[in-house]
Amino acid sequence: MTTVGFIGSGNIGGTVARLAVAAGHQVVLSNSRGPRTLAGLVTELGSRARAATAAEAAAAGDIVVVSIPVKADGSVPAAPLAGKPVMDTGNYYPERDGHLAELDAGDLTSSGYLQRFLAGAHVVKCFNNIYSKHLENLARPAGAADRSYLPIAGDSAVPKAAVTAFLDSIGYGAVDAGQLADSWRQQPGTPVYGSPYGPFDNEKGTPAGEDVIRAALAAASR
Ligand SMILES: NC(=O)c1ccc[n+]([C@@H]2O[C@H](COP(=O)([O-])OP(=O)(O)OC[C@H]3O[C@@H](n4cnc5c(N)ncnc54)[C@H](OP(=O)(O)O)[C@@H]3O)[C@@H](O)[C@H]2O)c1
Repeated sequence: MTTVGFIGSGNIGGTVARLAVAAGHQVVLSNSRGPRTLAGLVTELGSRARAATAAEAAAAGDIVVVSIPVKADGSVPAAPLAGKPVMDTGNYYPERDGHLAELDAGDLTSSGYLQRFLAGAHVVKCFNNIYSKHLENLARPAGAADRSYLPIAGDSAVPKAAVTAFLDSIGYGAVDAGQLADSWRQQPGTPVYGSPYGPFDNEKGTPAGEDVIRAALAAASR
């Protein structure tokens, strides 16, 4: 059994937590306002869930999800994440996050930006390219013909294998999209961002298999 820590428990973090609990994992949730504000979600998720501070969630997780606005990346507790796989769902939106020159220039990916704050942790970009409602509704067991795949990008094989196993447990296949420096291929505006899983106004989503995700990654250009 895996304990999954969450830094950020909103649309995407909360959805991953629901899928994780359904798969039998323990979850430790956190947000910016404190554990008491997560009481409703903890009640919904039941005995496998608890709320904590961000530092406690980071320390408790065997694997950790960071799902916050990029502008808050510098506040993620680094020390308790050292050595751990950290799934970064983040997308950089300057209108929300403020302008970051290296990201605007394309010299650095947003997950590379998070990795800078988390020396010793193993950041893997994951879940950033799928609408939270589609993520909730497209989970399928291993072997299902209509299973969907998600791109993952990171610099080390062992953490990526841990993320792949976690995705498998919650209902998704993984496509290796390369290193963090390659993760621009799954950032907003690329072919793999959003559209493979169908339009946002259909919350059920459209299954996107391995070949579809590989082709979309390969079609990215800048
Ligand atoms: N929504 C989607 O479908 C979707 C899809 C893919 C990727 N993303 C990306 O994933 C990230 C999260 O998106 P979201 O839609 O889940 O956002 P959201 O619903 O607004 O949730 C953000 C979460 O982050 C927490 N948070 C903010 N600052 C924090 C900090 N300094 N420390 C700890 N927690 C903090 C918030 O807590 P408080 O509420 O207490 O402030 C909240 O729980 C964003 O980068 C977004 O662009 C979103």
